[in-house]
Amino acid sequence: MKQRYNELIKIINEADYNYHTLDKPTITDQEYDSLLRELFEIEENHPELIRDDSPTQRAGGQILEGFNKITHQKPMLSLSDVFNYDEIRLFDERIKKEHIKPEYICEQKIDGLSVSLIYEKGILKSGATRGNGIVGEDITNNVKTIKTIPLKINKPIDIEVRGEIYMSKKVFNKINAERIKNGLEPFLNTRNLAAGSIRQLDSKIAAQRKLDSFIYHLPNPEDFSLKTHYEALEFMKSLGFKINPNNKKFNNIEDLINYIEYEKAKRPTLNYDIDGLVIKLNNIDDQFKMGYTAKYPKWATAYKFPAETVLTKLKDVAFTVGRTGQITPNAILDPVIVAGSKISRATLHNIGYIKEKDLRIGDIISIHKAGDVIPEVVSPIISRRTGTEKEVEMITNCPICNTLLKQTNSKIDYFCPNNNCPARNIEGLIHFVSREAMNIEGLGEAIIEDFYNMGFIKNILDIYNLKNHQNDLIELEGFGKKSVSNLINSIEKSKSKPLENLLMGLGIKGIGEKTAKILAKKYQNIDNLINATFNDLITIKDVGNVLANNICEYFKNEDNLNLIKELKKLGINMKTNIKKLNENKYFTGKKFVITGTLSNIKRNELKKIIENYNGEVSESVSSKTDVVIVGENPGSKYDKAINLNIEIWNDEKINQILNEL
Ligand code: IVH
Repeated sequence: MKQRYNELIKIINEADYNYHTLDKPTITDQEYDSLLRELFEIEENHPELIRDDSPTQRAGGQILEGFNKITHQKPMLSLSDVFNYDEIRLFDERIKKEHIKPEYICEQKIDGLSVSLIYEKGILKSGATRGNGIVGEDITNNVKTIKTIPLKINKPIDIEVRGEIYMSKKVFNKINAERIKNGLEPFLNTRNLAAGSIRQLDSKIAAQRKLDSFIYHLPNPEDFSLKTHYEALEFMKSLGFKINPNNKKFNNIEDLINYIEYEKAKRPTLNYDIDGLVIKLNNIDDQFKMGYTAKYPKWATAYKFPAETVLTKLKDVAFTVGRTGQITPNAILDPVIVAGSKISRATLHNIGYIKEKDLRIGDIISIHKAGDVIPEVVSPIISRRTGTEKEVEMITNCPICNTLLKQTNSKIDYFCPNNNCPARNIEGLIHFVSREAMNIEGLGEAIIEDFYNMGFIKNILDIYNLKNHQNDLIELEGFGKKSVSNLINSIEKSKSKPLENLLMGLGIKGIGEKTAKILAKKYQNIDNLINATFNDLITIKDVGNVLANNICEYFKNEDNLNLIKELKKLGINMKTNIKKLNENKYFTGKKFVITGTLSNIKRNELKKIIENYNGEVSESVSSKTDVVIVGENPGSKYDKAINLNIEIWNDEKINQILNEL
């Protein structure tokens, strides 16, 4: 009986291996079923015989209350990412710098979740998730349900192997088809479903999910006298693990890069999802030489495929009010990684765009990143509809101030006609942090809008008080400790921006980059500007009546003066570094043309002096030219000056003026 029992285990395990790992069935389904039934019967009558590696142990059954923790024998690291071929070349250069003549193994990067498997005397003892890399969860019961993970390996050794658990596209599609038929919401992607399945407390459910595996890492190759990663893969294969047949050796990075195109083309034909390729240094000694950072090995890297289109769920549509009061619908998405960044919203431009694409809330939609910057919604996946999706309704009132919206003349867009709509405040804030003004990195338009709507930033002063809300910010989606600290640093850095940037940022009507500089140059600090009279202001070239009036009005307003007072208190710089305007009766405010060779000074040196005194030097003579400076051998500019009756200064006059300076 015992002999037959052992024989059955051997036959069934072999049949499983041939069918699942090698994809080469050796017996018929009927034969398999009858052998399994025979095995079950023996185990029912003789439970004392049951072996850990009996195929019946894969069926699942135990229901856990929670997962135990397993501390990894060695940390389970992740991989550094590269996104283009030049970054791969840099990886190669870093290796060559260590005087290594690299040989690489290029592997598919399986889009699943990593697992650590421990075997003792050849018997599977435990399976663990990666967790935080140091401590993972004990998923042994569920791992046992995976047919390509041997319960017993071909040598009675102690060994740990690591790899990926994934769900095939075929199984995924089957499960989803079934769910849709039953009126349930389909799963989004194979990885999420695989992750959800492996964390089932009821291993029966995990078993039904028919997960699969590829093993790709042997943490202790030296224990088995293996010299290369490739040998380690071969060794693990000989033990009975499923090794990806697409692993390939290269000793030249350019050949490897060429091969990537081939892998990219093959991707859609695979029965499992891959999200890139992993490049590993083959020689184990070389791996040791390169070493590790805290997070990843320096001897390997992951090339991530550019995600042209990615599927996600359109959770909602949120309307925002833009700079001019224009209403824009935004897609609120289940966060996804597209081309290396996490996307959780995308513009939908206007309601016409939504109707044209027939987007509905609840749809699975495809999105891509156009020009590598702006995520764009491509289309809904009609076949994934369940009938519960909702049409997007255009709003009638401003989401900020509730004013009834109006349509633009073109009838394409809607806008909020309320001039005091807080959306205008948002516009002001966006302007304040923009590159030309205070240049606060990390406070993009969307973030300002979000922070405004969440109440973190209602006015300019709040930006500088954001550091008091760091703990709240860290909790927000898309933010972390690092990005919040970067943001706070960038805000602090902006405090030392010169006066012209602040003037620009305050949003005084008519003050652009150029006038901000002119005013800063003339007044040097904000107090001088606040005290400048209308008459004083209009003496400045480029400042007309309207602008002078705007400036006076702005600084008459108590709120604005208060804002400046508070900004000062917060340590915002109110001075410029631009040298104060030198006034000079000869040059200031005049337009010059220089022609011919001057005896004591080069033309471009004289140009600098004139500009320093706020004169202008141009190339061609026109009726607007005030003075033409004429040296030896003048060109036609001299004749033109005579014709236009323009004042002429000769070499002697220039020498005299230069002496006076
Ligand atoms: S090697 C120390 N090889 O990618 C080396 N990882 O982004 C550890 N992955 O956590 C990993 N396919 O879950 C390796 N062929 C492959 C892989 C692979 C998928 C996953 C793995 C890892 C993640 C890093």
